[in-house]
Amino acid sequence: MSHAFPHLASPLPLRHVTLRNRITFGAHTANMADDGLPGPRHLAYYRERARGGAAMVVVEPVPVHPTAVLTRGNFRVQDDAVIPGFRTITEAVHEAGAVVVQQLYHVGQHGDFDNSYRESWSPSGLPSFHDSDGSHALTEREIAELTTGFIDAAVRAKACGFDGVEIFAAYNALVDQFWLPWSNRRDDAWGGSFENRMRFSAEILRGIRRAVGDDFVIGLATAVDPGVEIALGTELLCEVAAWHDERELMDYITCGTGSYFNFGPIIPTFLHADRLGLPAAEALRGAVRHAKVQVESHIRTPEGAEQALASGAADLVSIVRGQIADPHLVRKALEGRPEDVRGCISCNQMCWGRRSRDYWISCLVNPSAGREGDWPLDAETSPAPERRRILVVGGGPAGLETARVAAGRGHEVTLAEAGPQLGGAFRLAGLQPRREQITELIAWYERQLTALGVTVLRSTPLDGAEAAAFGADAVVVATGSQPAGTGFQRAVPGQDAIPGAARRDVHAIEDVLSHQARPGHRVVLVDDLGDWRGAGTAWYLAERGHQVTLVTGWPMVGFTIQRTAGDGVLRSRLAALGVTWRVESAVVGWDDAGARVRDLLTGEETPVGADSLVLATTNVPEDSLVGELAASGYAGEVHLVGDALAARLAVQAIVDGRRLGLGL
Ligand SMILES: Cc1cc2nc3c(=O)[nH]c(=O)nc-3n(C[C@H](O)[C@H](O)[C@H](O)COP(=O)(O)O)c2cc1C
Ligand code: SF4
Repeated sequence: MSHAFPHLASPLPLRHVTLRNRITFGAHTANMADDGLPGPRHLAYYRERARGGAAMVVVEPVPVHPTAVLTRGNFRVQDDAVIPGFRTITEAVHEAGAVVVQQLYHVGQHGDFDNSYRESWSPSGLPSFHDSDGSHALTEREIAELTTGFIDAAVRAKACGFDGVEIFAAYNALVDQFWLPWSNRRDDAWGGSFENRMRFSAEILRGIRRAVGDDFVIGLATAVDPGVEIALGTELLCEVAAWHDERELMDYITCGTGSYFNFGPIIPTFLHADRLGLPAAEALRGAVRHAKVQVESHIRTPEGAEQALASGAADLVSIVRGQIADPHLVRKALEGRPEDVRGCISCNQMCWGRRSRDYWISCLVNPSAGREGDWPLDAETSPAPERRRILVVGGGPAGLETARVAAGRGHEVTLAEAGPQLGGAFRLAGLQPRREQITELIAWYERQLTALGVTVLRSTPLDGAEAAAFGADAVVVATGSQPAGTGFQRAVPGQDAIPGAARRDVHAIEDVLSHQARPGHRVVLVDDLGDWRGAGTAWYLAERGHQVTLVTGWPMVGFTIQRTAGDGVLRSRLAALGVTWRVESAVVGWDDAGARVRDLLTGEETPVGADSLVLATTNVPEDSLVGELAASGYAGEVHLVGDALAARLAVQAIVDGRRLGLGL
């Protein structure tokens, strides 16, 4: 047992099973079903986290009724065809030493017609906060139908080999819609008094216990949203929990943050504080006597989990994204090497960012997530057929990942970085407000490369002849990209460059963040990207006292950040700092007077006075080394990765690096 994590490491009895430690891989829709069936992708995904040490794995929710179908990757509803696939998962997770339960859900009024092809059902027929639909107020017969749906799904889960089920009553889903007076306006036996509002959940939980017997865990997934007046708050949740606990209706209760009314805190990005669910868990622990309490929401590290447990706020900790990012987080902590844990950077880009667009999930820092079958963790450490000499040129994310994986497979790797520091453009992103987790990730890479014996040469720019002189078997060109310097905007494709873009008072975001440029007080920032590169730099400048006007062709600021549920908080921070914006607009000229801004809807052009123009636009690859290597007569393999291949984001660079590293 590790001395650094005594609480985390201690086992926990939970009804008929004992959890080997205190970390759960909590419920989340991985959205990986193939034609509604759990397949190889799911199997490999959960097995990896069980092998990585999680004590309990909560497999993603099954919709309990046709009106509950929410995503393209949902499992089939009320269909025994899922049983064989789930059996392979439960067996694999058990074999790896973890307990496995399944979440069961119905989101009530917030359903998704595009996937269910059904109307949404809810206690009182209130509107969806997922789309513009209204919902159908349940009849008593339909309430019975849904109760049966939950119970049948639990019985099926038992047949699949699950150790238990977790009933979803979080974020204003169907079950907690019944609890909350705002969403339950019924005047029959299912609404009105507190007892009546508890009836639906009690019927489900009692019914499940009757149907599955004693040796089966029943969990209750809840959430609080103190930020929204009408949402379920901690006080009411504690009353609800105490009521269910007195009747011993659940074995554990877990509590997330946020709600359908306020989505951001559900999967908190780096804009939110760490350990967001701690106060609610603490309150719940005071409210219940029988049930174990699990804390969740933005607990990122083993240290964070240990502190949450040591504070007495909870019996168990759910770490979802932390274990998507590093499936072996628990094992590494318990082996006393938490510094090896690859940290989640709370970006939501590839987990929620993909789920929100209805793809199966993955991870920015761990592109093997969801691809464990093709890119298993073992492959990174299983020796390559022959040890070769690899020269990686460029220390941004593509180069770092290629070097790490190639060295892990036994190659002799040298990484040469032109600048004094590793990280490339990603390091600059880490200088934006609240993005220091990126810097931590780069530090992790540095530790890993050292441990793997990679020779890292900083401040070592190489031309083709110098690179060739290394005599490596393969040269990996990971030299990144350069700002285009033109201000090309997708909204005005006929304008190759903004007239005036070549002036000295026009800067790329990279130059601003690296302090190579010092913009004047009034800045117009062209954001053609709609992501953190532009908006984060606007924030960075505004924090330093600049008066920033952001001009974007997109219909909103942070258009692609929307998919990560981080855009709302971003805009409120920008607004609080006095940043103003012109959306569906483009800069069509720049001179001494400032920017000429075209409203794309009306065509009207207006001047915006400014001292500097800052460009967040698509870069161009810096791949000149490829030609130079050829010219030098280098006869070995040459590979292009990351921005040097095509200018994109860190996520694609890391994918390229992993793919190449596994293939070298
Ligand atoms: C892609 C994704 C999908 C999620 N889907 C669910 C879900 O279906 N049910 C649920 O109870 N929580 C879901 N969650 C919320 C997580 O259980 C958890 O509360 C949240 O990710 C914050 O915890 P973390 O910081 O440990 O990731 C989801 C989270 C993610 C990242
Ligand atoms: S995509 Fe980002 S937030 Fe999601 S698990 Fe990976 S690092 Fe964490």
